[in-house]
Amino acid sequence: MDVRTDYVIIGGGIAGLRAATDLVTRGQVLLLTKAGSTESNTGYAQGGIAAAMGHDDSPALHLSDTLEAGAGLCDPDAVDVLVSEGPRYVTELLYWGVAFDRASDGQPALGREGAHSVRRVLHARDATGREIARTLWARVARSRSLQVFDHALATRLVLDGGRCTGVEVLRHDGGVVRVEARSVLLATGGAGQVFRETTNPAIATGDGLAMAWRAGARVSDLEFVQFHPTVLHVPGAPRFLVSEAVRGEGGRLINADGEQFMSRYDARGDLAPRDVVATAMVREAERTGQPVFLSLAHLDAQWAGERFPAIAEACRKAGLDFARDPLPVSPAAHYMCGGVDTDLSGRTSIPGLFAAGEVACTRVHGANRLASNSLLEGLVFGARAAAAMRLPERDAHLPPFVEAPTEAPTVPGGAVISAPVPDRMWRGAGLVRDATMLAPLAHDLDAEAAALERSLDERGGDAARWQAANVARVGALIAKAALRREESRGGHRRADFPERDDVHWKIHVGEFCRSTTRV
Ligand code: FAD
Ligand code: SIN
Repeated sequence: MDVRTDYVIIGGGIAGLRAATDLVTRGQVLLLTKAGSTESNTGYAQGGIAAAMGHDDSPALHLSDTLEAGAGLCDPDAVDVLVSEGPRYVTELLYWGVAFDRASDGQPALGREGAHSVRRVLHARDATGREIARTLWARVARSRSLQVFDHALATRLVLDGGRCTGVEVLRHDGGVVRVEARSVLLATGGAGQVFRETTNPAIATGDGLAMAWRAGARVSDLEFVQFHPTVLHVPGAPRFLVSEAVRGEGGRLINADGEQFMSRYDARGDLAPRDVVATAMVREAERTGQPVFLSLAHLDAQWAGERFPAIAEACRKAGLDFARDPLPVSPAAHYMCGGVDTDLSGRTSIPGLFAAGEVACTRVHGANRLASNSLLEGLVFGARAAAAMRLPERDAHLPPFVEAPTEAPTVPGGAVISAPVPDRMWRGAGLVRDATMLAPLAHDLDAEAAALERSLDERGGDAARWQAANVARVGALIAKAALRREESRGGHRRADFPERDDVHWKIHVGEFCRSTTRV
């Protein structure tokens, strides 16, 4: 079956939905989601959305906090767009009916998170993403120009003469649909499922990144995976994020002896940037041989339960009293700072293909994202991509990068190991990495991904096989990128290169797939 439309949006999280609100006023829009329409990383976002809206705040201050967290690799022009346009788009959300929590003066209540110098995070208790997505869905669903295919897995981009002209979709009934469009927006979110320990839901298999890479799009900064420090870690219970906003409201990290330890590792204590907190927690756990905990025992229990009801409920299900018990926490893969390279209007290196949200690399996050800047990025750059998709086509102005070889490293005796990819990625390319683990991992995953891709090319495949290929491909790309960068910076920590090296590595490294005949 073939479908023709003006615009295809792959993804119904904040980036895809914000783009849809504009594009439905300009033409026919087909929006694809791979699972139920409300299942996205956006729907799980807890802490909130950052915007310089407080009396003591300014875009300049938000910019400097973002650059500081990004460890020297943010693009200041991109960050300037994010922080100066952010308040306008967040005000628009308020106008559209997002029920952010309010302070006693009726203004949106502002929360604090790590590495923010002031309170600037708007939130709807601890389910901010769900509230934003609800509002955006309600807004676009009214439009007759919108068609939604849910449980529809985009599998490959269709190219014609080097231009993206559509996408192939595997529907839940096994049928393949070829969609043709004037332009395509990738808003497919993140890739947390590439790692065994992750905050991300099952949909986050890096499909958009793998698809874009196979089509020959430029991708970069993939070594910068953000590991969130505080994920509830109870054996047998599902992992659940305990928002950084909990520390912003006074929650403390303690060791098994009840001692606060963060200030021994960093003067900013519990609210240091995520990479710093996550690494300190691992060191403290190694030093003591015990887990580390988050404690709210000194805070008002009723207030804590009302401010963070979803987290309190997840703790209850795991047998813990959120406000009273020490909560065992450890880091888990949370966010991809790198992705498909775009310019400031979401254009990628392939004409007709745009990207926004977590799948994109706008360079606003550099080597480590500032908390609550991701929802903001999806909102601002989703809107900017939609504006550009309506205009006559022009080439992307992509920022400079250093092109790395596409081939995986040669590793003597590198053999395919049978453990699942997420296990191997967690062990070999997790919070602290080194060449002896990364080199065989990159080599083996590249071979595995290529074999899966060849089998899909020859015989087609089901949704599970496509996603397995995507996880292996994204794992290989991350491992190769992590192996290349011989320094430690932001979310990328190398035991064998522990220092930051601005002389050689203040650069963005990425690659193109040169053999785009594959899937
Ligand atoms: P997503 O919201 O992930 O949406 C992706 C969409 O793409 C989905 O609809 C999915 O079905 C679709 N899709 C993917 N692949 C395919 C395919 N092959 N075919 C068809 N459809 C596909 N950030 C903040 O700023 N503040 C927070 O408080 C915050 N808290 C978080 C808490 C958790 C637990 C998690 C996991 C993340 C959190 N983040 C937070 C990060 C943030 O939620 C995400 O980065 C952001 O929501 C990504 O939005 P997106 O629109 O790019 O993608
Ligand atoms: C959190 O609530 O801690 C997540 C916020 C984010 O990822 O920005």
